[in-house]
Amino acid sequence: MNEEKFENLKNEVAFCKKCVLHRYRTNTVFGNGNPEARIFLIGEGPGYDEDQQGIAFVGRSGQLLDKILAACNFTREKHVFIGNILKCRPPQNRTPSTDEIIACLPYLESQIELIDPEIIMTLGATALRGLTGKNLKITEVRGKWMIWNNRIVMPTYHPAALLRNPNLKKDSWEDFKQVILKYRELVDPDHACKYI
Ligand code: URA
Repeated sequence: MNEEKFENLKNEVAFCKKCVLHRYRTNTVFGNGNPEARIFLIGEGPGYDEDQQGIAFVGRSGQLLDKILAACNFTREKHVFIGNILKCRPPQNRTPSTDEIIACLPYLESQIELIDPEIIMTLGATALRGLTGKNLKITEVRGKWMIWNNRIVMPTYHPAALLRNPNLKKDSWEDFKQVILKYRELVDPDHACKYI
């Protein structure tokens, strides 16, 4: 990891005015976790709490994500970096526009290049479509490893979808279990998880 480039990128994001969303933001949300992490989680974009605090996934979705990560025995401090397709909150949390995604995507691509994760996980349809540029259906592709830019990607539901529809939690857990197994295979064979 090139720390200088990472800090420069963070700075660039903090002053970004490439799309209209800079007018509405309180803070940019660059992403959080370990820049040396081997797992890169991608969400959609900041919500109200994230915009207020400048930290990714700190609202209700984030709290659920933290519970799931804890069940995997993954921590933000060590195992994951959490970023988003968008670094600024869309007003009223509306779905990001194509223009906004196109403007912001190079930041995510640079983050991925610098962190160089072993495993990527997209959370929700916007993250999946934003990253791949394909109009994929989350219900059809979740739980199946995909290849993007020579990297392996596990698409799964967004935690907000699990909050809206708890029936999805079972499938979501299957997807995270696959990530645990892949982490053991590629990163740490001794990674403990009491559930798998
Ligand atoms: N939802 C997201 O997609 N990202 C966040 O950072 C918070 C909520």
